[in-house]
Amino acid sequence: MHNPQLNKDGELTHLLSTEGLPRRIIEQILHTAESFVPLADRDIKKVPLLRGKSVFNLFFENSTRTRTTFEIAAKRLSADVYNLNINASSTAKGETLLDTISNLTAMQADVFVVRHQASGAPYLIAQHVQPGVHVVNAGDGRHAHPTQALLDMYTIRHYKKEFHNLRVAIVGDIVHSRVARSDIHALSTLGVPEIRAIGPRTLLPADMAELGVQIYTDMNEGLKDVDVVIMLRLQNERMQGALLPSAAEYFKQYGLTAQKLQLAKPDAIVMHPGPMNRGVEIASEVADGPQAVILNQVTFGIAVRMAVMSIVAGASQ
Ligand code: CP
Repeated sequence: MHNPQLNKDGELTHLLSTEGLPRRIIEQILHTAESFVPLADRDIKKVPLLRGKSVFNLFFENSTRTRTTFEIAAKRLSADVYNLNINASSTAKGETLLDTISNLTAMQADVFVVRHQASGAPYLIAQHVQPGVHVVNAGDGRHAHPTQALLDMYTIRHYKKEFHNLRVAIVGDIVHSRVARSDIHALSTLGVPEIRAIGPRTLLPADMAELGVQIYTDMNEGLKDVDVVIMLRLQNERMQGALLPSAAEYFKQYGLTAQKLQLAKPDAIVMHPGPMNRGVEIASEVADGPQAVILNQVTFGIAVRMAVMSIVAGASQ
């Protein structure tokens, strides 16, 4: 079956999802990212790999980490970076997404980094652009957030070295989370033998078992002896109706406290894609504690996004 992310030579030409992304491509991205990490400690943090190329950041939904780290990554690759201000763009006058893309392509765009509230928007753009123009999904609806998953995989590999012996717990609002879905696909492809989804029934998708994920509604059971805990935000903006009794009750049942964290392995790491809601899904004592690698995830995100953009832009036509 044709994989829309790969060209005829099997190279990554668009990054749309971790679902169906071959293991060799994930490993290529992690390996390439590793070579970019030391740049952060140099006086001149730039390499010329994307010199002369134009990267357009199109964020139709809010973002702090993803948008900024894509911009930093593109600048470190020496690309020219353009951040479209969606609120001040002609989108507000009714211009369609694909007309916007055509117009920006006429301005010689090479890479589009796209965040959109509609699941599938980056796929639509990838089908529309000419050969030689690349699309990177920066989060689409509830569907996928592949660069977040890849930076999560980078972080896990950095601290745990191997994937084949890990127990990973993903906790919270999984049903509304594009990060959870993308993480699960990447963890499975990399050979993690035990992936657990922990949360209230109302926030767990029905298809978890099909993905080989074990379900836990009791956090104390689910956290037992895990190596990695990935906490997720309650995505109130994507919830329709009351799925939870209250934020306080949620914290009591599913909030990660230092006491609950003791159930995991002593060297377990705590991750969170951000933004965090302290006192809702995570206590400050954990978010700022010695096992948290949350800010390291953000820093690794620069190198991972450099890797993704340099790989897609280097793919043959
Ligand atoms: N993790 C993440 O996507 O954060 P932002 O929404 O701030 O980009």
